[in-house]
Amino acid sequence: MKITVKKGKALEQKTACLVLGVFEGKYKDEALIGLDQQLDGVLSRATKSKEFVGGKGSFLLLHGGKQTVAERILLVGLGKESAFTLRSLRQVSSSTAKFLAEKQLGSFVLGFPQVEIKKTAFVSRVEAITEGVLLADYRYDRYLPKKQAEKSAVLDHVTLLISDSESPAIAKTAVATAQAIGAGVCFARDLVNAPGNLKSPEYMAMQAVAMAEQVGITAKLLNRRELERQGFGAMLGVAQGSVYEPYLIILEYQGGNAETKPVALVGKGVTFDAGGISLKPAEKMDEMKMDMGGAAAVLGTIMTAAKMKLPINLVAVVPAVENMPSGTAIRPGDILTSLSGKTIEVLNTDAEGRLILADALTYVGRYEPRVVIDVATLTGAVIVGLGNYAAGVLGNHNGLIQHLIKAGEASGERLWQLPLWEEYTELIKSDFADVKNTGGRAAGTITAAAFLQEFADDYCWAHLDIAGMAWEGNGRAGQPKGGTGFGVRVLVEYLRGI
Ligand code: BES
Ligand code: MG
Ligand code: ZN
Repeated sequence: MKITVKKGKALEQKTACLVLGVFEGKYKDEALIGLDQQLDGVLSRATKSKEFVGGKGSFLLLHGGKQTVAERILLVGLGKESAFTLRSLRQVSSSTAKFLAEKQLGSFVLGFPQVEIKKTAFVSRVEAITEGVLLADYRYDRYLPKKQAEKSAVLDHVTLLISDSESPAIAKTAVATAQAIGAGVCFARDLVNAPGNLKSPEYMAMQAVAMAEQVGITAKLLNRRELERQGFGAMLGVAQGSVYEPYLIILEYQGGNAETKPVALVGKGVTFDAGGISLKPAEKMDEMKMDMGGAAAVLGTIMTAAKMKLPINLVAVVPAVENMPSGTAIRPGDILTSLSGKTIEVLNTDAEGRLILADALTYVGRYEPRVVIDVATLTGAVIVGLGNYAAGVLGNHNGLIQHLIKAGEASGERLWQLPLWEEYTELIKSDFADVKNTGGRAAGTITAAAFLQEFADDYCWAHLDIAGMAWEGNGRAGQPKGGTGFGVRVLVEYLRGI
């Protein structure tokens, strides 16, 4: 899809469809008055009859007449002006793109850059609009019948119409930023949507290496032999039930000077989580191909950071394994020796994410990172607590957590903090090893984080539990059913601010 920026008056645009935003009850701006005149009062009649009043999420598609330059005009309800935010702008851009795509109108002129929001910069608004459109245009259709796939991908050329007082250069920068973010999110979505028979840890590694090459960053892989040599006992414990070979994927981006300590991102990369010997129930087990959503998020983030040339150093580490039941799988009761030297009693083989993260968190300590953020589809409990509306955030440094929460608000990927008081650590003490990998039914998200904390003791650390956010079960505007790429936007926003 092509996105261009253009200055000009709305009613002078020659296009298959001109899109204008309308706040509820506010029909008095220049373009709307002019349009009403050109169409012999159509807009007045539609608002009077309450067919279209600018309500949030409403559309009115009109065909042009003799006097209009555009072939069609789409009026998009923005809802109450006082309630309209950057989040609303992102959403309405997505729903508009979806609406037009379904009508096979792939080229249009979008007037949204002229919609103002209090205390919000033009550059942020254009970014939000572009992001909304790009994410609505995503499809995972490579295994669909050709006809269906062709029909679904129709956005072709979107023109962002900016007012005479705004700078096209600023708008173009915003578009480029949103494209870099969109690329990272879509890369992550593709990885999550890939089915488990294709998506082995090796496949993840190859995708990461190819992406690294594409954006010019360094990639390194540790294979089973090397992991054994170095003592990644917790990660190898999970991997031993699968016929797929495990990989530790390490990507490094250097945008700052060589002495600056990097930010380290760690992503849970379980390519399929059957639960192991503690086998999961059959229902919805297919969705467990998304158990590498954290890995996808950190890989997408480093991709975007490189594309944006952020002035920081970044390392992304992904332990990639498959969690399967088999004759070689770990058993409940097994004791593993982690890379840190700490021993772990495995009470439930389905609590595998924390095992592989334990070793990855120890590993990133070698970088003396300024902060470490891990991202993982770690617990079903976070879905019980927060549903599919926010990721849980916990950690050992409140300043870092607050920064992340702010970045979440700004980017639209919400985070909600849970406590990590020392009492919770009591729940993961084991009778036979340093720690056990489950803390019982209560506070499942927190005891999982308390477990990770045991391996993140040398640095500032935060943990995002994205189990409720990595997969969209129904599909909505800006987010078709499947992998969401959640995490890329909040992490990029955080990294832009440090
Ligand atoms: N991958 C799951 C968590 C998950 C659940 C992700 C639902 C996405 C949607 C994780 O490995 C897991 O199985 N966690 C267990 C931990 C328990 C055994 C302590 C859980 O949450 O039930
Ligand atoms: Mg599991
Ligand atoms: Zn899992």
